[in-house]
Amino acid sequence: MQGLTGKVAFVTGGAAGVGYAVVDRLLSEGARVAIVDKDEAALLRAAAAFKNCLTFAVDVMDEAQVQAAVAGTIAKLGSVDILVNNVGRTRYETFNDLDVERWRAELDLNLTASYIVARTILPGMVERGSGAIVNVASVNALFNVGNPAYSAAKAGLLQFTRQLAVDYGPHGIRSNAVLPATIRTAGTWDWRIKEQPEVLDTLRKWYPLGRIAEPEEIASAIIFLASSEASFVNGASLVVDGGLTAGNAQMSREISGGKA
Ligand SMILES: NC(=O)c1ccc[n+]([C@@H]2O[C@H](COP(=O)([O-])OP(=O)(O)OC[C@H]3O[C@@H](n4cnc5c(N)ncnc54)[C@H](O)[C@@H]3O)[C@@H](O)[C@H]2O)c1
Repeated sequence: MQGLTGKVAFVTGGAAGVGYAVVDRLLSEGARVAIVDKDEAALLRAAAAFKNCLTFAVDVMDEAQVQAAVAGTIAKLGSVDILVNNVGRTRYETFNDLDVERWRAELDLNLTASYIVARTILPGMVERGSGAIVNVASVNALFNVGNPAYSAAKAGLLQFTRQLAVDYGPHGIRSNAVLPATIRTAGTWDWRIKEQPEVLDTLRKWYPLGRIAEPEEIASAIIFLASSEASFVNGASLVVDGGLTAGNAQMSREISGGKA
């Protein structure tokens, strides 16, 4: 992948799941990385695995903590060239699971946190006249598969991405979004598997590729958008879903009376 060697990347939620795979890939492409995560134990494990990384124990919803981590990265590594806004999570599957407090919490984590981190990093990118931002959204932004507050937040994240693309493109800063479907990560799935052990098998059936994603497959798309291989890609929403949103095979079968 071109244009990553020596670049400084700031990866939120980089201590586990997709973020961890992104950090791994960035390092192997020659980038320098600041991992930002609120899980201190996971951060310690990542620091031991990745030796040459900066780590910051930060809650990305806390602006002062984010500002300190960005300042710390710039002090040690000189700049932030790439921002991967990867933190995201949902706990509330149906409308009835929500109340106003839970709705706000999901919007804060899945939308406002990306705004907080971006607004902290953008002035430095503007000063240097370059930068790449990748926001990790979800196919939930496109159609209804539950998790109403999370889905609304991820849809908002797509529009925020386009806003950044238009406002900061003239400063040489590209902003894009990746929209994954189901990825086998502990943080997102272990608690659901506990309640419903067959949940991932149930999900696999809906995927034209017959399986769900590995974190590394999402990391590849993120790395592409962060690199200069994507030098003219700005404001894009890259769906990485194994064909999930390409159509509905069950519906097609029913319409055609079961013909192949
Ligand atoms: N796993 C999936 O099936 C799936 C599907 C579609 C989209 N996504 C999106 O992909 C991204 C990564 O998902 P994942 O499954 O790797 O998540 P994960 O839960 O496995 O990892 C997320 C990391 O973010 C950290 N984190 C959570 N809240 C934080 C906060 N407030 N401040 C700092 N760090 C925080 C966690 O400690 C964890 O290390 C998310 O944006 C998620 O919405 C995931």
